[in-house]
Amino acid sequence: MTAPAPTGSCPHLDLHPGPGLHQRLAAFREHAPVVQVTLHGRVPAWLLTRAADVERALTDPRLASDDRWLHSAPGQDEGRSSVKVSLMGLDGAEHTRLRHILARPFTPRNIESFRPRVQALTDELVDRIERQPTADLIQDLALPLPLHVICDILGIPPDDRDPVHQLTRRILAPESDPQAREDTRDRLRDYLGTHSRHHVVTGIGAHHGDLTTSELTDAGLLLLMAGHETTTALIGSILRTLLERPAHYQALTHDPSLIPRAVDEISRLHGPVALGVTRYSTVDLTISGTRIPAGQRVLLSLGAADRDPARWTDPDRPDLARRSRARVLAFGQGPHYCLGAGLARMEAQIALATLTRRVPHLALAEHMGTLEQPGIFHGPARLPVRLHAT
Ligand code: HEM
Repeated sequence: MTAPAPTGSCPHLDLHPGPGLHQRLAAFREHAPVVQVTLHGRVPAWLLTRAADVERALTDPRLASDDRWLHSAPGQDEGRSSVKVSLMGLDGAEHTRLRHILARPFTPRNIESFRPRVQALTDELVDRIERQPTADLIQDLALPLPLHVICDILGIPPDDRDPVHQLTRRILAPESDPQAREDTRDRLRDYLGTHSRHHVVTGIGAHHGDLTTSELTDAGLLLLMAGHETTTALIGSILRTLLERPAHYQALTHDPSLIPRAVDEISRLHGPVALGVTRYSTVDLTISGTRIPAGQRVLLSLGAADRDPARWTDPDRPDLARRSRARVLAFGQGPHYCLGAGLARMEAQIALATLTRRVPHLALAEHMGTLEQPGIFHGPARLPVRLHAT
């Protein structure tokens, strides 16, 4: 079921994440850049796909992050608060206060202080990979690296990490039933509030009393969910893109100074939040000539914007030498710009630098086809590789 289309809107169109997402987004960007669609076949939303519209919308105060602006309509409640936790769903002064506190572990200097730990974790994982003739770079590297990094930050002990990961996965799974998702979220919240309250406070550098108990547990939950599988998806996409073009991977083994730009270019091409970030119209507004009434869900497609030919030359091609003044939107922009962008980039750079240095003859073990993860974040579900030249 979807909400009735307001007068003048385009017909309803389905939009599912997963394989072929970019081709579908490109068709919207070209033919219907502001259009009403249904997500997962059920949830109505307005979709923006042009870079200029998406960029403007990210800083438009008339588009809120808090879903209390959403008018009730058939299907609308289904998508309500699916991943809404902590500051991601707040606006204005309330958001600024909390963001100021949660930003502390993520200053450039603090992120830099995690570097030795990220390198040590990566080395341990690559030690294990090197002992095998084949590996799955998702299970063996892209998944455990960000999981351990965020759990280190939050002080979650090693034995609890796998169960914590299973719980976050269940919350993020698009197919899970809303009630089951709420129950799982409560379990994780209980865990963070009891077992690791002290660690979370210390980990995020908050002072006791800065945050209420529920703000603190929500913050832990947000960092776990925002900081883990997104980075897994990005590292997976980076490795996949390079291994599908062995000359690109080889270029990095010879010249590691290309790595930071390669990470940024593949973040543009395969940003894990490709489908986009959600906002709610607080008033009637007009975007590129199309009227969006107040109280509607609006999806700002970062993936479509980052491949907009109006902004990027030959946008679907990975160009490791690309020089452009245009801004990549994969980590958002404006008041909600990703707090962990620097950390995620550092993890991806270290993973890539370590692999290209230590395993220069890495090759895909099979044709990848459409191994996209059908989940909420855009990235490969597995990445089987051979470690040595045959
Ligand atoms: C927000 C992407 C990794 C923490 C965001 C937003 C995007 C994003 C697009 C904006 C949401 C919005 O505008 O509504 C990504 C991607 C990542 C990544 C692509 C990895 C490749 C991380 C990591 C952390 C993190 C590693 C923390 C350890 C956050 C937080 C917010 C956020 C706390 C909310 C900021 C706010 O609402 O003010 N992220 N993220 N993210 N991200 Fe990330």
